[in-house]
Amino acid sequence: MSTDMFAARETDTLIWISGASSGIGAALAATVPFDRAHVVDISRSGGAPGVEHLPADLSDPSSWAMIEAHFVARLGGAEAKQAIFVHSAGTLEPIGPAGTVDSAAYTRNVLLNSAAPQVLGHAFLKAAAGFSGEAHLYLLSSGAARSAYAGWSSYGASKAAVDQWVRAAGLEQTQRAEEGLPSCRVVAVTPGVVATSMQDQIRATDPSAFPDVEKFKGLYERGELRKPEDAARGIWSLVDRHLDNGAVIDLRKLT
Ligand SMILES: NC(=O)c1ccc[n+]([C@@H]2O[C@H](COP(=O)([O-])OP(=O)(O)OC[C@H]3O[C@@H](n4cnc5c(N)ncnc54)[C@H](OP(=O)(O)O)[C@@H]3O)[C@@H](O)[C@H]2O)c1
Repeated sequence: MSTDMFAARETDTLIWISGASSGIGAALAATVPFDRAHVVDISRSGGAPGVEHLPADLSDPSSWAMIEAHFVARLGGAEAKQAIFVHSAGTLEPIGPAGTVDSAAYTRNVLLNSAAPQVLGHAFLKAAAGFSGEAHLYLLSSGAARSAYAGWSSYGASKAAVDQWVRAAGLEQTQRAEEGLPSCRVVAVTPGVVATSMQDQIRATDPSAFPDVEKFKGLYERGELRKPEDAARGIWSLVDRHLDNGAVIDLRKLT
C-alpha cells in the first residue's frame, strides 16, 4: 500500500509495527483497537491488509536511518493524540550452538534481535521528544530472556538486552516527565508461547540443534499455544493500563 493513503488530519493514532507481515505483528495490525488509526508495517514482505508498508531488512543497519527519518517526518508537527511503536520483528535463525552455526547468519541475528530494538527504540524516543500527544513504545521480549536454552544463545541474549534497555529507557523517560518534558512509556512484553511461524520452525528443529524441541512439541500437542490475536489484544490492552515506565511485562501474568 502506498504512502498516499496517509492523511495527517484524519489520524488520531499513529502506529508503527515492525514485523506486521506475520505472526504477532500481523495480529496486532488486524486488531488495532483505535478509531482513525494509521498503521505502518516495517518488514521485508509486507502484505498486511489496510496497512502502509515500509520495506526494510532490519538485520541491515543501513535501513535504520530511513526508519528514524520516517518517525521524524510523521511525528514532527503531528496533531495526532497518540503515537505507538511496537517492535515485533525477530528471528530465531540460526538455531544451533554458538561456535557451530553460520557466522553471517549469527551476525544478522544479533543485528536484528539485539541492535535493532535499541537503535529503533532510541530513534522513536528521539522523534517523539517533541510530540505533543501520548507516546508508547512496546518491545517484544521472551521467556528466553530469563531461561537459557541451548541453541538460542543470541536470541536469548537479545531478549535479555531488550528487557534491560527498557528498564533504563523507562527511568530516563520518567525523569523527562518529572522535568515537565514530553515523555514516552517504554515497556517490554513477553507474549507467552504463541502459534506463529516461529513456533512451527521450533518444532521442525533437529534436537541436535535445539535439545528442548520436545517441550515445544508437547505444548503444541496439548493445545497450549496462545492464538496470535489473543496475544495481540493483550498487548493493545497495555496502552490503557497503569504501568510503571520501564516495566517488563509477561502477558501470561496479567490479571
Ligand atoms: N511466537 C512465540 O511463541 C513468541 C514467544 C516469545 C516471543 N516472541 C517474539 O514475538 C515477536 C514476533 O514473533 P512471531 O512469533 O510473530 O514470529 P513470526 O511469525 O516468525 O514473524 C516474524 C516477523 O519478523 C519479521 N522479520 C524477520 N526478520 C526480519 C528482518 N530481517 N527485517 C525485518 N523484519 C523481519 C518478519 O517479517 P518479514 O519476513 O516480512 O521481514 C515477520 O513479520 C518476535 O520478536 C519474537 O521473538 C514470540
